[in-house]
Amino acid sequence: METEQQKKSPACILGIESSCDDTSAAVLMDGVLRSNVISSQAVHSAYGGVVPELASRAHQQNIVPTVSEAIRRAGIRKEDISAIAYTRGPGLIGSLLVGNSFTKGLATALNIPMIEVNHLQGHVLAHFIQEPDVDKRVPVFPYLCLLVSGGNSQIVLVKAYNDMQIIGQTIDDAAGEAFDKCAKVLGGPYPGGPYVDKLAQQGDPKAFQFAKPHIDGYDYSFSGLKTSFLYLIRDHLKNEPDFIDKQRANLCASLQRVVIEVLMQKLKKAVDDTGIRCVAVAGGVSANSGLRTAFSDYAQRYGWDIFVPKISFTTDNAAMIAVTGYFKYLDGVFDNIASTPFSKVVI
Ligand code: KG4
Repeated sequence: METEQQKKSPACILGIESSCDDTSAAVLMDGVLRSNVISSQAVHSAYGGVVPELASRAHQQNIVPTVSEAIRRAGIRKEDISAIAYTRGPGLIGSLLVGNSFTKGLATALNIPMIEVNHLQGHVLAHFIQEPDVDKRVPVFPYLCLLVSGGNSQIVLVKAYNDMQIIGQTIDDAAGEAFDKCAKVLGGPYPGGPYVDKLAQQGDPKAFQFAKPHIDGYDYSFSGLKTSFLYLIRDHLKNEPDFIDKQRANLCASLQRVVIEVLMQKLKKAVDDTGIRCVAVAGGVSANSGLRTAFSDYAQRYGWDIFVPKISFTTDNAAMIAVTGYFKYLDGVFDNIASTPFSKVVI
């Protein structure tokens, strides 16, 4: 733990994200975003999913140019940085190690503190990223956040910037994973979420029915839905070899409807039980157009005060790591040079 005296003014936070297959760096000056650079890794598309070893190698190649570009676009010198916030976990351990090691090296060279950030907390706090000349409304504590990405589906009770509790989570696949795996069955690209979203807009959401999970409390399950999707297609293909080609849009629309219904039913239960009507959504799947529409519908119908992130802050990005680090910086919460990444989900 570093000391309070290391805080500088203005607070210039460099954020670094490397938990999965995006290398990202951002600069935040006194809480306002100055740059946010994301280098995606095309290498995985040939494999239909992220290959961990390839991801860590690509992070190694990308991290220096990505950080340099973030510093250049922010119009600062590296000596202006007050602290480096980086994603410590959860995520792929090899990918996380690249961000962790790079942060240790740069923080030591610049003699500034490092700040560890939980990737999931970053997604949840993405709603607090302030951009220059944009007067943005932010959620009021306590609020509920539906966090839906390729690796996580959770309902988080957010009591303060650094006080969050997971009250529900998937017991198997994440919502994004269900989109990705079903898109693969249809012969679509990776990641499959945007592909399903686009096709769903031309299809009939009631064309097909799929199994819905019956899980207690606020937890989710998406593996049964995925299997139901696969079996329905397998059964139809026996008599109609061109079933997928003919029904692609209807399959996507029906799949998307069920995923959204499952997500929203549990979220509504959490709102009703807690009485908290300030509700946010975050993570890659929050880019989904159907989910965004469902949020607006629920807001109107049930009087929720909703927060839906800008599309560029839905998927993995360093701006959310920088803003989470900024709040820790203000509280004087710093990391230790000996800290190592963690892969498992905790908040
Ligand atoms: O948050 P994220 O970038 O990475 C993780 O931390 O997992 O989320 C990636 C996930 C992928 O599963 C992707 O298919 C999904 O977000 N996704 C979408 C959409 N855009 C991205 N899912 C549904 N509709 C979208 N428009």
